[in-house]
Amino acid sequence: MGQETVDLSVQLGSLTLAYPTLMGSGCYGSGQEFAPFVDLSRIGGIVLKSVTRQPRLGNPTPRLVHTPSGMLNAIGLQNPGIDFYLEHDVATFADRPCTMIGSVAGFSIDDYAYVCERLAARREIAAVELNISCPNVASEGETFACDPRLTARVVGAARATTDKPLIVKLSPNVTDIAAIARQAQDAGADALAVVNTVRGMAIDVQTWQPRLGNVTGGLSGPAIRPIALLAVYEVARAVTIPIVGQGGIESVSDALEFFLAGASAIGIGTANFIDPRIPERIVDGLAAYLRQRNLHSIREIVGRANVGFANAHQYEGDED
Ligand SMILES: Cc1cc2nc3c(=O)[nH]c(=O)nc-3n(C[C@H](O)[C@H](O)[C@H](O)COP(=O)(O)O)c2cc1C
Repeated sequence: MGQETVDLSVQLGSLTLAYPTLMGSGCYGSGQEFAPFVDLSRIGGIVLKSVTRQPRLGNPTPRLVHTPSGMLNAIGLQNPGIDFYLEHDVATFADRPCTMIGSVAGFSIDDYAYVCERLAARREIAAVELNISCPNVASEGETFACDPRLTARVVGAARATTDKPLIVKLSPNVTDIAAIARQAQDAGADALAVVNTVRGMAIDVQTWQPRLGNVTGGLSGPAIRPIALLAVYEVARAVTIPIVGQGGIESVSDALEFFLAGASAIGIGTANFIDPRIPERIVDGLAAYLRQRNLHSIREIVGRANVGFANAHQYEGDED
């Protein structure tokens, strides 16, 4: 019985993914290093490292710290800036046998709009994700993703620059993520990525110094999975656009929890550092799970553990 007897394809706005698995921004480069170990045509897509208007050297080292069931990172958005990126990097993405999604970061609304427009104009880029977990220099460094008004403004400005699918990546570092999600949807997002890293820190008890050069960082990996899952569950009841659930997914069972909570697709980040074959194993495992239950499509299980989701959405299968 062939692998393809079940349909794992999903839709994010006008973007069709053959597999519902996206490699998380900043955790997969552009796929080049993974290509010798992984069949890139079976991973769904890659969300590229966030790019900014100006080049950035990133934060002082150390930038990574292991923590129980996870890791802290404080890379500081190291990237060559949009000019160099468009000139040297983006053309090389044309050969990849999977969907390539650009990621935009910025420190002003104008930054986001500018970088989004230039990146989205490239044919190698199928969709754009907005990483709005950055401080806004115009409002005392307030994080875009932590303020409903700023979220609406930055998403609206980016939306005006492109017709390509726009995914807005939300931060878990808020009290009411559903309220932020509604603002992003109303401002024109086609899909939401839920969630980015959770703020945290670690201290070296020998030196009495913070272990990250930047003092604070973002926690990822299994340690944040329950937090991410609840965020997906809450957002899925609040919006009707698709969700890319992410945070600590390492196994088929982890992935299934996110689909059942209301995610249409999943992101896999930190797990790739442990074993680059995890995404393919998850794809195989999802297909096997559906076959065992005589289901035909991954879309049939989305939101099935979330009563609020059922009220907000219509299942494709319900009309049969
Ligand atoms: C080293 C590292 C770098 C990251 N860089 C970015 C980034 O540039 N832009 C972004 O939106 N998210 C970035 N993330 C967040 C991941 O894409 C992902 O949302 C988060 O780590 C949670 O998923 P995970 O537990 O599967 O890694 C980064 C995460 C890590 C670990």
